Amino acid sequence: MEQFIKNLPKAELHLHIEGSFEPELMFKIAERNQLKLPYASVEELRNAYQFTQLQDFLDIYYAGANVLQTRQDFYDLTWAYLQKAYDNKILHTEIFFDPQTHTSRGVPFQLVVEGIMDALTDGRKELGVSSNLIMSFLRHLSEESAFETLNEALPYRDKIIAVGLDSSEKGNPPEKFERVFDKARKMGFLTVAHAGEEGPAEYVWGALQGLSVSRIDHGNRSLEDNDLVALLSEEQVPLTICPLSNLKLQVVKDMADHPLKTMLDKGLKVTVNSDDPAYFGGYVNENYLAVTKALELNKDHLYRLARNSFESAFLLPEEKQRYL
Ligand code: ADE
Ligand code: ZN
Repeated sequence: MEQFIKNLPKAELHLHIEGSFEPELMFKIAERNQLKLPYASVEELRNAYQFTQLQDFLDIYYAGANVLQTRQDFYDLTWAYLQKAYDNKILHTEIFFDPQTHTSRGVPFQLVVEGIMDALTDGRKELGVSSNLIMSFLRHLSEESAFETLNEALPYRDKIIAVGLDSSEKGNPPEKFERVFDKARKMGFLTVAHAGEEGPAEYVWGALQGLSVSRIDHGNRSLEDNDLVALLSEEQVPLTICPLSNLKLQVVKDMADHPLKTMLDKGLKVTVNSDDPAYFGGYVNENYLAVTKALELNKDHLYRLARNSFESAFLLPEEKQRYL
């Protein structure tokens, strides 16, 4: 099965570029920028990756991202991920970035987006990995701050396919961002949102009805609401599931309890993704393998997951056809 997974062409639809920041590269960039990380070594940093909930992870993830300062830093970060994507037989990837994590530290929006885009261009040319970019708003910040970020994205309207919503879910429901998502849709952006990771099924309803999202990121807790499951199935709304993330953040206690197989059995359009692979112990193939082992998935399941990933991508029908 391991070989089957390695050879299976896939799309990745839920990947935070800041979450692909491996400790080795973090130390290298910190040194280059003459910054000191609060850890003595790569090993000590990795040992700190013990989380009992989403917020534990977010605190360390934002601290790590603080060493990113130059266009070259964002290029190097993105290029390192694209090489991993290539090794994982990812033919197409849709990458989140969190501009507010950087602009709030005085790093210009333009430098962040151009560093990432340069690497994506090289990824297409040199690795044959196609890509789209999704700009995520941090939901623990205000809607006003999201509006400012949306305005900064204006010059890049044709380079950024969608807006998303991430960070601390509980207490920050989708409704908080309805106006800025309305404006983003009017500007021509597609929309996605993290929902039902730690937050309740109502947040998934909020993302669908209030933010008109095309996909739900995570959505695990949708299973608590039968009417919601019926809607997700009927409309074939893609869910971007991240198994190792769910385990590391204790959204599930054991991989054997993961809802992915139940979701497939209920006819939901499920995809498998890595979320923040540098922090959660694996890229996309490791995620496929972990659920395959724990849930006894067969080749038909895996084929369906990979097919779903291309069908759920923000590609034109003729582009999708190349992969299906
Ligand atoms: N930002 C990066 N990874 C995230 C996750 N899994 N949930 C919410 N926000 C995030
Ligand atoms: Zn995520």
